[in-house]
Amino acid sequence: MNSSDFKSSINGIQTDLFILKNKNGLSAAFTNYGARWISFNVPDKNGTIDDIVLGFNSLQEYLKAEEKYHGAIIGRIAGRIKRAGFNLNNKQIELSINEKFPDGSYGHLHGGIQSFSFRVWEGTKNINERGEEMVSFHLLSPAKEEGYPGNLKVEVTYTLSNNNSVKIEYNASSDKLTPLCLTNHAYFNLNGRSGHDVLNHYLQINGSEFLEMDPIDFSVTGKIIEVKNTPLDFNKMKKIGADINVRYYQIIEGRGYNSYFILTQNAAFYSAAILKSEESGRSLEILTTEPGLQLYCGGYWTGQDFGKGGLPYRKYGGVALELQQYPDAVNNRHFPTILLEPNQKYYQLTEYRFRLSTI
Ligand code: GLA
Repeated sequence: MNSSDFKSSINGIQTDLFILKNKNGLSAAFTNYGARWISFNVPDKNGTIDDIVLGFNSLQEYLKAEEKYHGAIIGRIAGRIKRAGFNLNNKQIELSINEKFPDGSYGHLHGGIQSFSFRVWEGTKNINERGEEMVSFHLLSPAKEEGYPGNLKVEVTYTLSNNNSVKIEYNASSDKLTPLCLTNHAYFNLNGRSGHDVLNHYLQINGSEFLEMDPIDFSVTGKIIEVKNTPLDFNKMKKIGADINVRYYQIIEGRGYNSYFILTQNAAFYSAAILKSEESGRSLEILTTEPGLQLYCGGYWTGQDFGKGGLPYRKYGGVALELQQYPDAVNNRHFPTILLEPNQKYYQLTEYRFRLSTI
């Protein structure tokens, strides 16, 4: 991967690649286009280094990809807002519409048309007090952008720690009441660039409930369902492929996993999930301050995008574990609020800890 393939200019702002290294020889790269996570180069059980974050070798490929969200920061609201609107203190807020469905319904997905994922952020590289390399991305989201109220300042910092983890810290504040629910949309394949699907990856999720997905518009219905006795039970570690073909309505409609899991949050910062591959011996443990995660395995991928290893990204080619607050909380008042008060500090931390492990 060449930095020069990420140097360009979008709307007059320079894009670039920011490469971080740690003392153990691991590296990770990021770009200020969408504040994206581009790569995470880690060894396998034989010591072979490979990249476990899906995506492309150049900015141009990100711009034309069928899957638009590889590695991107999602905002202002991750996930889908039913009918692209909600009521805020007796005022109807209309958001931009970027999804339309065959039956005429529509929605607002991942912050809208020119969302944070497609903006060029300001990026700066730094070193923290432990000597770890980090990159911070800044963005100003003006009031009314995509329909959202309030001028919002956002800072996302990625740190490559000396414990072989990538930490993502989210900081934000607004001058008016606004909903905010940020996440990162990286897809992983622990078998590296030549890895095929993720069906042989093991996954454990520390949560016993999920939100029902509405098959009409992929938003949530508001119903909370227990994972017990459903194919969405990942309480005990199991292969992603084990139950992905079970004829269960949420799996059929979501083309595999496409659901939000409510996590058992037993501390402010806690272990949410573990992803492992027997084939490569690589594992990722995800720790977070967030209350849940959206699991999606690329069920809609068609093979049209060719990734870094030159292979097509086909159905189930990667797994996204999007640590975030409850989706469409603005239309489901029984979910924890995602409203940010004026001048209140928004802070979330998610850490992806790499390890070599035996299953
Ligand atoms: C978008 C979202 C995914 C998934 C798919 C298919 O790409 O980012 O999480 O929901 O739509 O529904």
